[in-house]
Order: sequence, then C-alpha cells, then structure tokens
Amino acid sequence: MSTPPSTIGARSAALVLGVLSTACGGAGPSPGPPADSPAGAEAPIAAPISEAAVQAALRMSPVPPGPEDPTNRVDVDPQAAALGRLLFHSSALSKDGDVSCATCHLPEQSFVDGRALALGVLPLERHTMPLWNLAHQRWFFWDGRADSLWSQSLVPIEDPLEHAFTRAGVAHAIHDDPDLRRRYEEVFGALPPLGDKLRFPAIARPVPANDRAHQLADEHARANRDGQEHHTHLFGSGFRHPHQRAWDAMAPEDQEAVTQVFVHVGKALAAFQRQIESRDAPFDRFVEGLREGDAAKVASLDDSAARGFELFIGEARCISCHGGPLFTDLEFHDTGVPEVPGAPVDDPGRSRGLEALRASEFGVRSRWSDDPEGPAGVKVDFLPAAGHGHGPGEFKTPSLRSVVHTPPYMHNGAFATLEEVVAFYATRETARVTGTTEKILVPLDLTEEDQADLVAFLRSLTGSPPDLARLGAPTR
Ligand code: HEC
Ligand code: HEC
Repeated sequence: MSTPPSTIGARSAALVLGVLSTACGGAGPSPGPPADSPAGAEAPIAAPISEAAVQAALRMSPVPPGPEDPTNRVDVDPQAAALGRLLFHSSALSKDGDVSCATCHLPEQSFVDGRALALGVLPLERHTMPLWNLAHQRWFFWDGRADSLWSQSLVPIEDPLEHAFTRAGVAHAIHDDPDLRRRYEEVFGALPPLGDKLRFPAIARPVPANDRAHQLADEHARANRDGQEHHTHLFGSGFRHPHQRAWDAMAPEDQEAVTQVFVHVGKALAAFQRQIESRDAPFDRFVEGLREGDAAKVASLDDSAARGFELFIGEARCISCHGGPLFTDLEFHDTGVPEVPGAPVDDPGRSRGLEALRASEFGVRSRWSDDPEGPAGVKVDFLPAAGHGHGPGEFKTPSLRSVVHTPPYMHNGAFATLEEVVAFYATRETARVTGTTEKILVPLDLTEEDQADLVAFLRSLTGSPPDLARLGAPTR
C-alpha cells in the first residue's frame, strides 16, 4: 500500500474529516448517503486519491436503503416476500413446468445465467440482467419497457420465449397448491372460485398485438414447422390465438379476477426481489474509512483500484453515465456495442421500449397500481412522443455493483470479460458507431496499465454474495 499512485490526479496528502462529512450531499439519481455520517476523529488521514476523487467517492457510497414503491402496497411486506420467493423458484408457472425465474436468474450465480443470450422455452435476443438493488431502478429491462418492478415481473411469465404461460394458468397453479394458496390468501385475501373450470379455463390470457416476443415465437414456429398451436400467432391474418379465444370466452368480471391474481403475483415477486442487494464492497469500506478517519478501512482500495477510480471519474469519463451509489444514471444511451450472432443488428432498444411502455396495461398510472395518482407516475407523464427523443441502440446503463460476478456483458452479451469492456471504451475499435452513438465516447488515451487499473476498480465494487439461506430456492 506504500506505492504512491503513478497516474493522474493531484495527490491529497491529508484530508480533514469534519470537512468530508459535510460534503456528502445526495447528488445522483438515488437518494444520497445519510447526511449525518459519523464525523469521527478530527485527525487527518491520508487518502490515496485526489481531493476531487474524495468528494466524488463520498457521493457514491454507501448504497442508501431502497425506496419503498408506493404503487405496490406489499413492497416491504415480509409475508409477500416469502410468497414471492416461492414463486420466483417455482417452475409451475411455465408452459411445460420446466422454467422458473431462477432458470435464468440463478441464485448461486449471482442471479444471472452466464449466457450471452438468454434461453427460456425458446431463445431470447437479449442478455439476462442482474437483479441487484432493484428498488432503486426507475425503468426495467434493457429498453425500460416496464415502469415498476411488479409490472416487470409479469412480463416473463406470459412471454412466449420465457415461461410461455398464461395468467389463468398462474391463478390455477396457486389455487391447486395448498401451501401457495394459503400463503397467497394470507397476504391478498380469497382467491376467486377457480375450481369452476367452466368459468376459469386452465389456460387463457389476452395476447398483445405487435409484440416482439410473439413475432419471434412465430418466426421460430415457421422455421421449425412444428405447427403447434401456441406458436402460431400469425400477425395480421385475422387469426385469433387460442389463449386469446379462451380469454374472450370468459366473463369480464372473471377476467378481472384472474388479472388481479396475476398482478398480486407480480407484487409478491417484487417484494422478494427487492431483497437482492449488493452492498459492503471494498469501495464502500474505503469510503467509510474516509468518513471515519480509519486508515485500515481506507486501505480496502488498493493502489491499482485507487488509480482506476481517478480514471473512472476523470480522464475515462465513465462517471458521466455510471454515477451515484449504484454507478448508473438509470437512463438510456447508445454506446455502440458490436453485433453478435443471434441478436438483431438494429435492436431498437429504448425507442421500442417506450412504445411497449405506452401499450402496457400494468403501468404505474393504471388501475392495477396501488397509487395511480401518486408521484411515482410523474416519470411517465412527460415521456417523449412516439418517434421522438430516443434513437435505436439506446439501452439502460447497468449498475456496476458486483459487476465482476455477472459476465458476459452488455444487452447482447457481446463481451466475455471486464477487460474486453474496458478495451471497448478505451480503443473504440470494435464500436458500431452510428448517428445516435454518444459523442462523449471517443478513443481514450489509456495505457494497458490504466486499463488494468480501471478493471481493478470495477472489481472493488463487489459486494457480499447473496445470502442463499434467505434468497435461494426454498425448502418447504
Ligand atoms: C429465459 C430467461 C429468463 C427468465 C425465465 C426470466 N428472466 Fe428476467 N430477464 C431475462 C432477460 C433476458 C432480461 C432482459 C430482457 C430485455 O431487456 O428484453 C431480464 C430482465 C429482468 C429484470 C429487469 C432488471 C432491470 O434492471 O431492469 C427483472 C427484474 C427480471 N428479469 C426478473 C425476472 C422474474 C421475476 C422472472 C420470473 C417471473 C424472470 N425474470 C424470468 C431473462 C429471464
Ligand atoms: C455515454 C454513457 C456511458 C459512458 C460514458 C460509459 N458507459 Fe458503461 N455503459 C453504458 C451503457 C448504456 C451500457 C449498456 C450498453 C448496452 O448494453 O448496449 C454500459 C455498460 C457497461 C458495462 C457492462 C455492464 C453489464 O452488466 O453488462 C460496464 C462494465 C461498463 N459499462 C463500464 C464502463 C466504464 C469502465 C466506463 C468508462 C471507461 C463506461 N462504462 C462509460 C453507458 C456508459
């Protein structure tokens, strides 16, 4: 730890803690760290980074508690979370009983699958996203097509590529399992009379028009000529999907009751997932050390990572998109990620995500929200009009917390390692630059050592691993 930093940035020999603790206001998209951090001793301590970097570091740690979602009244209800855990790990909510959320979000693999592109009932076009610190997110999916965690959680269940299931099927799966049923009714009240199969068919749902996943499922069916009913959506031919036919045959109040069960499932899944957190990384101990004047904690960031942090907030300009305690601005950018086999060359990203968001029946302003008039809806009140504001290729800036555990990287899994990601930003050699690619992303003048330092810094964001006793597959 005695080697001084050899790269950029003025070195601050000593920092007085009284000054530090007043400087930690909450900039960035999430609420900032508590303003009343312990002032600690008045003794100055040496920090291996510049004064500017110290100020930036104080704004980036700790991860504040996840804000409660008022659109989900059971968001922090422990019983709902326990139900959500069972549902998350249950393959009963899928077409052939072999896909669960945990098929792609494996708890023992930091809730991802290690694949470049996800594989459910059929192959997907995108890479599985990490689930850390979801309570802080504003938009969900790479393209932000869901505006709450609970509405996000409903999409994979009815997606023909993922669980390929239906909301009527979900209601029956809960009804037919005594444990699930008891837990559900304890949290949400009585289920509708699902035993009446004439009123409540086993399989039924409204099938969205012009939905990308359905188009892909269709293409897949045509390529395989397997002719199975569920794969033949046939856009624009007047053909009605069998799930839709079964749905249309139901009474409106029964449709309503089934959709209500489905929405409750999403809310329980959200209550579970908000507990998946990445905290207490070496970087956080380092910042704690700065606040408390504890030299041993400051040493949690080694010299290479400290130099990497200077680059991250300085010359490499990573912080312009990866700022705040989650290391993301929670917004969308085209970084020019290269194409990969199996994913479309021109994935429209956020621009199509916005269309899907507008078409969603489960928005934060919808009647399924528990606070439809509330402030959580402000973010959707001023979205850009169709065709404006977002070009193709824009994807959500991922959080960088515990990023070392979730390769490969990017929306299409284009890069296998963090070294490759950093080289992509440093050289831009593999970048697919188009009219919408962010202009700030230009080749950087970084040596190989600088790039290794950036990777060392990214590694220092690794939080404690998920507590599988609490979050893993339940034994019941
Ligand atoms: C077939 C694999 C697969 C299954 C099954 C699956 N997911 Fe995902 N998950 C993904 C992929 C791929 C994405 C990104 C998709 C996109 O952006 O289009 C994603 C995105 C997410 C996100 C968004 C995270 C963020 O930061 O925006 C959440 C939350 C999530 N999944 C939860 C779930 C839940 C809950 C289930 C079960 C109901 C589930 N997933 C089932 C692959 C899967
Ligand atoms: C213009 C905004 C912007 C800047 C600047 C930026 N990033 Fe990113 N970063 C993104 C976006 C957006 C993605 C996702 C891109 C995609 O998947 O298409 C991303 C993805 C990543 C990932 C992959 C994470 C994952 O889970 O897949 C890493 C690692 C990363 N960036 C690190 C960095 C580093 C290091 C720098 C500085 C050298 C940097 N970024 C600069 C916006 C930015």
